[in-house]
Amino acid sequence: MNPASVLIVEDDTKLRNALKEIMTREGYAVDATESGDIAVSMIKDTVYDLVITDLKLPGIDGMDVLRSVQKLARDTSVIIITAYATVDTAVEAMKEGAEDYIAKPFNLDEIRLIVRKVLDKKALVDDNRFLRNQLKKKYSFGNLVGNSEAMVEVYKTIEKIKDSRATVLILGETGTGKELVARAIHFNSIRSEKPFLPVNCAALAETLLESELFGYVKGAFTGATRDKQGVFEVAHGGTVFLDEIGDISPRLQQILLRVLENGEIQPVGSTQRKKVDVRVVAATNRNLGEMMKAGAFRADLYYRLNVITLDLPSLREKKEDIATLAGHFLKKYAEENQRPIHGISREALNLFDCYEWPGNVRELENVIERATLLETSKEITAESLPESIRTARERPFNNPDEDLQTLEEVGRTYIQTVLEKTGGNKARASEILGINRTSLWRMIHRLKIAQ
Ligand SMILES: Nc1ncnc2c1ncn2[C@@H]1O[C@H](COP(=O)(O)OP(=O)(O)OP(=O)(O)O)[C@@H](O)[C@H]1O
Ligand SMILES: [Mg+2]
Repeated sequence: MNPASVLIVEDDTKLRNALKEIMTREGYAVDATESGDIAVSMIKDTVYDLVITDLKLPGIDGMDVLRSVQKLARDTSVIIITAYATVDTAVEAMKEGAEDYIAKPFNLDEIRLIVRKVLDKKALVDDNRFLRNQLKKKYSFGNLVGNSEAMVEVYKTIEKIKDSRATVLILGETGTGKELVARAIHFNSIRSEKPFLPVNCAALAETLLESELFGYVKGAFTGATRDKQGVFEVAHGGTVFLDEIGDISPRLQQILLRVLENGEIQPVGSTQRKKVDVRVVAATNRNLGEMMKAGAFRADLYYRLNVITLDLPSLREKKEDIATLAGHFLKKYAEENQRPIHGISREALNLFDCYEWPGNVRELENVIERATLLETSKEITAESLPESIRTARERPFNNPDEDLQTLEEVGRTYIQTVLEKTGGNKARASEILGINRTSLWRMIHRLKIAQ
């Protein structure tokens, strides 16, 4: 569960810092600004659970901030801070949709209490909305299938962030559904009528990628016989999906950072900048954090991209979805290939459970597609599965590449496997192993088992 995010808008530096400190200590993720204008642009780029704004601000005032929230981020709650003299206005603000107000001077307990109350109410409303939508969509989001805890968290996050313009970074191993999630975000958002344009950043050389993204003007290079719009311009009002973002060159990283910062692009060969309204969703299966530490990925771009991060679970981490996903793919491929196969045998499902699925959902999809073509009975049996899956169950004990193992070595491998399968839960593991927890502890230490 992410901590609730709070934006504080208060021009009095002392008060702003005090509020920031209290909220941070309460465990919230806190941003703060002294200006209403800055607050409005922050609301456009980030999804906040709560905005606490002073009523009187230089320039755009607290009421304007409230109105902007209502327009741009309807799910965000607002609390107004006001001096005694302006309580009437605070009441006005509540009529316009503010959740509550805090009158100056205030004490810390009072603030803590009001903020907690507002956030609790919001969590309840969010949960209700989520449950209603869930019923409607039967635990699926767009074409995403699966109702494991990890996927439900993914759906909740998509629901929460879909309409914001904030950049989303989708992480996950190959085949975990990064592109599918990017599409689900776009096609469930207010941008759904506008284009969704995917670009594979790893597939194009640097100069080609630059003109693909930002376009070029006539004469920019040999062969540029006319102006051409880039995807950022064509996608105006919609979403650009930058796939394999970890593969872009340092120069393009710098250009992209500028585009994300000021919403302007510059076609190759042009001196003019153009404003674009595009939401960027990026994905990679590389470890951007590590790349950043190694100097291969700009830190400023990394932080800009990962305003919202969706870390997709591997299939190993959501084994309870395997049967549902397998059934979904079976229906699809049996229909497509007109094969009268109606189910998956218990034995095949057990093998799926033991297998490690390095290629994740994509691999499962391919395995089922292949099996629908090979299978001769009415259900998918172990015989129509690839060798690697048929032997999955035996692997820890039957390793033909190595010499015979000692009992201790076998014990170590087996305990390690059980610990992995139980997610490190020692109570469960000792139950499965048929020994008590103290014995398990002793064996872990004696056999030097990594945990
Ligand atoms: N939760 C899911 N429900 C249904 N289908 C899924 C799900 N997750 C992945 N798939 C399917 O698995 C395949 C791979 O998904 P996708 O292309 O989105 O993965 P990816 O993470 O982008 O992989 P890569 O890193 O290799 O590009 C697609 O055919 C997709 O439809
Ligand atoms: Mg992909």
